[in-house]
Amino acid sequence: MAHKLDITLHIEVLESVEELNAQESQAMQLAQEAANDAYAPYSNYLVGAALLLEDGTFFKGNNQENAAYPSGLCAERTALFGMSANHPNKIIKMLAVTVRRRNETEHLPALPCGACRQVMAEYESKQNENIMVLLQGPNGTFYRCQSVRDLLPLCFSGKDL
Ligand code: THU
Repeated sequence: MAHKLDITLHIEVLESVEELNAQESQAMQLAQEAANDAYAPYSNYLVGAALLLEDGTFFKGNNQENAAYPSGLCAERTALFGMSANHPNKIIKMLAVTVRRRNETEHLPALPCGACRQVMAEYESKQNENIMVLLQGPNGTFYRCQSVRDLLPLCFSGKDL
């Protein structure tokens, strides 16, 4: 008999920047700096990502576009692939993401695309330790997820191969 599978996700909504702890606000600030350096001449949609590593260092990424549109890459994956290429064995503690449109200061909700969520899930499972994901939310709020699993339930993984 068919039955319902109820899935519960936990996402904390922080009402303002004051609710971020010191590391979170530093990560968000670095993500904003990264967004300023995005190469997004086609969309003018500037995405910045910052990874906090276990040793307290940060690694930044931003979206990189291309005239051949699909050749470009999102900020989250630029950060994660760059980090993994340079520090393959370091644990990622946190990923912060922010977005704004060029020539605007207001932050937009930073909701990672499905492909980026899949890549986040792979690194979380590889390191066998949660990655906290902090996203810019609407109207000055932030979304705090304790694990990538909260952003991608019923996730495909290498274990399924
Ligand atoms: N983009 C990201 O960097 N991250 C996402 O999660 C969604 C989209 C970028 C890709 C492209 O450069 C621009 O935003 C518009 O889609």
